[in-house]
Formats: sequence, C-alpha cells, structure tokens
Amino acid sequence: MLRGRELHPLPSAYEADEQLLLFPAIQAFISTRILVVQPIFVKEYFNSVLLLNMNLKELQRKAFEEAENIEKKEHLESFRIKYLGRKGELTNILRSLKDLPVDERKSVGVDANKLKIELEQIVAFKEKEIGSLGEESVIDITRPGKKVNLGHLHPLTKIEEEIRNIFTSLNFSVVEGPELETEYFNFDALNIPASHPARDMWDTFWLKEGGKAKERRLMRTHTSPVQIRFMETHKPPFQIIVPGRVFRYEATDASHEINFYQLEGLMVGQNISLANFKFIVETFFKKLFGKNIEFRFRPSYFPFTEPSVEVDIKFPTKGRGDWLEVLGAGMVHPRVFESAHLNPRDIQGFAFGVGIDRLAMIKYKIPDIRLFYSGDLRFINQF
Ligand code: DAH
Repeated sequence: MLRGRELHPLPSAYEADEQLLLFPAIQAFISTRILVVQPIFVKEYFNSVLLLNMNLKELQRKAFEEAENIEKKEHLESFRIKYLGRKGELTNILRSLKDLPVDERKSVGVDANKLKIELEQIVAFKEKEIGSLGEESVIDITRPGKKVNLGHLHPLTKIEEEIRNIFTSLNFSVVEGPELETEYFNFDALNIPASHPARDMWDTFWLKEGGKAKERRLMRTHTSPVQIRFMETHKPPFQIIVPGRVFRYEATDASHEINFYQLEGLMVGQNISLANFKFIVETFFKKLFGKNIEFRFRPSYFPFTEPSVEVDIKFPTKGRGDWLEVLGAGMVHPRVFESAHLNPRDIQGFAFGVGIDRLAMIKYKIPDIRLFYSGDLRFINQF
C-alpha cells in the first residue's frame, strides 16, 4: 500500500471513479488489460497521484492561512514541526514520492519541493518579524507613550491673532469681507478713478465671465472695499479692523507675493480726528513691537483719504537705524462716505491699511515673504 494513502484518507470509491473520468490519459489506461488483470492496483495507483496533488494544494492553503496568524515563537516552532518536521505533513508527502513511478514522481515532486521552499521562506520571514517585535509581542503597559506631534499656528495666523487681541482691547470690532469682489467695491466706491493703473489687467486678477455679467469681478486687491460694505449697513460711531487675504498680479520676489494679508482699520464718528489716529496707531505698534519704537508721519496720497499719511517706525538701535515704512492712512475722503450713503457733513474718521506679512517679517526677522507660502516645514516649525 502506498504511504500517501495511509496518511490521507482516500475519498469514497465513487468520488475516485469520477476523478478518473476527468483525465483522458487515465481513461485510456483503464481500458487496457492491466485494469482487468489488476484493477485494484491501477485504481489505487492513480488515486494516489491525484490525491497527492490535491493534498498538496490543500496543505498549501492551510499552511498559508495558519502562517498569517502566527505571532509567537512557540507557534512558529509548532508550525514548522507540523509541516516540515521529521513526521511533518509535507515531509510525509515528500517521502511517499519514492513509491511513485518516475514520471509522476517528477510532476508531484516539483510541486512538493516548491511548497517546501515556500514554507521554509515563510518560517524564516516570520522568525524575523517576531524577532523585530521583541521576544514576544506582549504590550508593555509601563513603557512611556509615544509623543504625538501637535501642529501649531502658522506665523501669519499667530500675528493676526495678536493684532486682533490688541485692537479688541482698544474696543475695535473685527469684521471680514469677501475675497472675490466687484469692480465697484474694490475701486469705484473708493474713489479710485477709472484710469488708475491698479485697474489694469496686468495688476489685478480679473475673472473671465463673458459678456453677460452685469459687473466685472476680481480677486480683491486690498481690504479697503470692506470699509464701504460695512458703512453701507452700519451707523456711526464705530471702529473696526478687517484682516484678510488680498491678491495682486505681480512677479514674486523677497518682498512681493501674488497673495498676502492686509489689515484695514476704520474709525468713524462725529469728531474723530488725526489725533485719535495717532494715539491708536502708536498704541498698536508699541504693543506689537515694544515700547521704545519711534514714529514718523509723512504726508502721502491715497484716492480714498484726504489728507493722507504714511507711517514709518524705527527700532531703538545704537547706530542711526533704518526707518521702516509700515502703514498707509488718512482721513476718510468725503466721496467714500457718499458711496456708502453717509453724509460727510455729519461725520468724519480715519482709515488705515497695513500689510500683515510685512509686520510678521519685521517681528520675526523673516527675510523673504515667499517663505510664508512655501509650505517648508523647516521654516514653519520654527514658530
Ligand atoms: N488699500 C491700500 C493698499 O492696499 C492701503 C491703505 C492706505 C488703506 C490708506 C487705507 C488707507 O485704508 O487709508 O495699498
């Protein structure tokens, strides 16, 4: 009797016959006289080859499935013994090969040996895997936990928060407006003439909207349009700041970006004057940069203020030190009040605009505005 048969119970005679019918070569063989002379021998012989093949497949499936779940060294060892040990399931099949005729021995042998190599590789792989987890993959609850890296605010967000806090402490409200603006709010209502170069398509991101659009739209070039939007719907007195993102069509360099952040300020009442502006703006910069900075107010021009000023600051240094231009401002132009349906004879006030990126660059000593938008963690993680 063949060993394969001892180890792996044969299917019923009926099943075996069906198997035989599947193979034309076997059918041909059965029809010879050998079958007549020694029917039992022939049938058993073929059953064994078929069964060995079937068993190999089943064994492979079973072993692979078991291997998946091995997590401990002892399990791996019993796995190895079960399949590859001296009396292991695969070893037994390999041993039984010698009882087969040469041709069949070859075909079954190739598959059996392939499986042997596969199982040996699995054992080696699992050994490594378990080794790398430590002797045993037991959870050591006394081990210190892994530190989770927390994110943090972007330097622009950080300084914006600081600015908001300073102004809310001065009783200003924080207001926001749309980044996508109409030509009217961005330019006309602010007394910016149709011939102004900022309206040029080379300076501004205009939307392509075809001929049907009622009004041309653009990505706002400054936060000033929110002055109009707010004044149209609120009665003075009020004092607001408007932080927000603005857009300019320009070549980038260390101090220019196609988008950046601005802070607009607006304070309106019956008798708000440049003296009030001076106090507010000096208080703001001293709180942001430190008490000892110096100020310089220079006359300037903006279409939406009259008179207009620019503010420079200087840090206390041993040498002469440089004046830094930080802010544009002025008394709100009467035409701007009119755009917002307010009577310039009843009220007056000041407005200002300042670049948040520039303030952050000064405060944190950042040499290039593009760093804010680079997404470079080596930069961001310093804050
Ligand atoms: N909107 C100006 C700009 O983008 C900045 C500015 C200047 C705003 C003077 C003001 C102001 O409110 O009064 O360059």
